[in-house]
Amino acid sequence: MRVAQVLPTAFVFHIGRVAARGLTAILVLAGLLAVGPSLAAETAKATVASQPPGVAIASAHSLSTRAGLDTIRAGGNAFDAAIAVSSTLAVVEPISSGIGGGGFFLLHDASSGRDVFLDARETAPASATPAAYLDEKGELNRDRATNGPWSAGIPGLPAGLVHLAQRYGRLPLATSLAPAIRIARDGFPIYARLEKGYGSRRAVMERYRGTRAVFLADGTPPMVGETLKQPDLARTLELLAEKGHAGFYRGEVAKKLLAAVREESGKWRADELAGYQVREREPIRFRYRDWAITTAPPPSSGGVALAQMLQILEGWDLAKLDQPDRVHLVAEAMRRAYRDRTIYLGDPDFVKVPVARLASADYAAGLRAAIHPDKATPSALLSGQPAPLEDDETTHFSIVDAEGNRVSATQTVNLLYGSGMVAPGTGVLLNNEMDDFALKPGTPNAFGVMGFEANAPEPGKRMLSSMTPSFIESDAQLALIGAPGGSRIITQVLLAILAYDAGMDARQVAALPRFHHQWMPDAISAEPGALDAATVAALQARGHTVNAGESTWGNLQTVLWNKQANTLEGGSDPRNPVGRAEVLLVPAPPLR
Ligand code: DON
Repeated sequence: MRVAQVLPTAFVFHIGRVAARGLTAILVLAGLLAVGPSLAAETAKATVASQPPGVAIASAHSLSTRAGLDTIRAGGNAFDAAIAVSSTLAVVEPISSGIGGGGFFLLHDASSGRDVFLDARETAPASATPAAYLDEKGELNRDRATNGPWSAGIPGLPAGLVHLAQRYGRLPLATSLAPAIRIARDGFPIYARLEKGYGSRRAVMERYRGTRAVFLADGTPPMVGETLKQPDLARTLELLAEKGHAGFYRGEVAKKLLAAVREESGKWRADELAGYQVREREPIRFRYRDWAITTAPPPSSGGVALAQMLQILEGWDLAKLDQPDRVHLVAEAMRRAYRDRTIYLGDPDFVKVPVARLASADYAAGLRAAIHPDKATPSALLSGQPAPLEDDETTHFSIVDAEGNRVSATQTVNLLYGSGMVAPGTGVLLNNEMDDFALKPGTPNAFGVMGFEANAPEPGKRMLSSMTPSFIESDAQLALIGAPGGSRIITQVLLAILAYDAGMDARQVAALPRFHHQWMPDAISAEPGALDAATVAALQARGHTVNAGESTWGNLQTVLWNKQANTLEGGSDPRNPVGRAEVLLVPAPPLR
């Protein structure tokens, strides 16, 4: 079975792939083919490797993947590598994420066997009342919501990095941050996406003197082939390395951030910075066929939506269906989950999110029962209010190390280059995550997504996210998955899970053409090659609107450990030519 049948023929990335280590594993696999499924499952259980044969990292830039591997070589574990990858992405992908933004880190600590969801999402400053985002006519002030200081939440990523180092890492923060500091100081080559993104945000970015100092340092906008140096950002990262939380949230950096916000007529308080804290949350867990899924809880909407969609879809054997049937059912599952996202999801520290009910098998069974096998359910017939789409920045990385530690992390400044505003003297580009709140109930945000009370802004509250860093594990395999793409993140992760379940490898999963439905607008969006003409016609005959051949989206970064063959592989999304997945083998233990 293939979720989408056409795969790109060329994969332009280096993908590390490790041959099976150990004759036993090979013999067992050969045996499995001969002896049939039940005995095979028994045998497989008895012979899977207990630890990966090395380290695999997939991230959206080759420099961040390399920074992670160098940190492992320096004696670090996956958590130290995650700090290196995250902070390097913050330097080389300012369009997507940064220490002026936030993120989620899904961790598995091999020594304790514990899974933890580290929530380093931004929080709303007290000044961010709903009224502050309305214009004189009572309409949403979109400039305020997406540009400059009012669009920015209190950053969470620096606290996330400090927490990772203190609780989970093995190396000093200064060592894990060293690659990012070096690259910020010495510079890195500007690539096409940075240049193009700057072009589309230029008018906003050049309003701010701090931004001009970084991006117009040589008098002209960033261009491919030039080197982008960020010495102030290097200094800020050094202070974080030296002083931990206080290096960013108090003292020199905090003073400059507060002054920058004030200079542009925004309002942040010193205690809001000093008081920022990450949260450790229990991940959402559920089963889909042979897989144990571990994924993002609120304030992400991703895990709840995944649980709904996959448990709805478990009612069918998708592998036995033809493409029109399969896409119809998957789209109907997507439609229902996104309706609930709009209504129920928000920050669990502020609102009661009915996670247990929404993520339950019984609730999914009820939703499944109302899906017509041959007819689209018009979204307007599902109770609730309309929502729509998001775009494609943000960044994800996946890491597995040789001890079995895992990090699946998604981080963001929200829109291209976040708020567009760099705080002078810090190199910190502030996020525009406030737009992820339902600033005006029922009014779509920059991407058309909206919400209601559950996601209304309140002081200290986290805005609802779609970021969905996930693990999926069967007896035979473990995969880490995640992607950027706003509301399209969750469906990318869904399709990736279905693709792994169908037997694809990591490269195929990252390259897989995508389709998406999010309740409102009531249409299936599809990338070129995702749905063939016959499928489009069959879906239309069932009442679906199909926007086939939209431009591509997402930037999925995944790693896969095959526990039976004891191989590691990575898949870096071919839509992003600067991404990279690599495997580093650790030497095999000496024979006794
Ligand atoms: O947290 C979220 O869901 C969004 N702020 C992510 C934004 C994204 O993936 C791409 N945006 N252009």
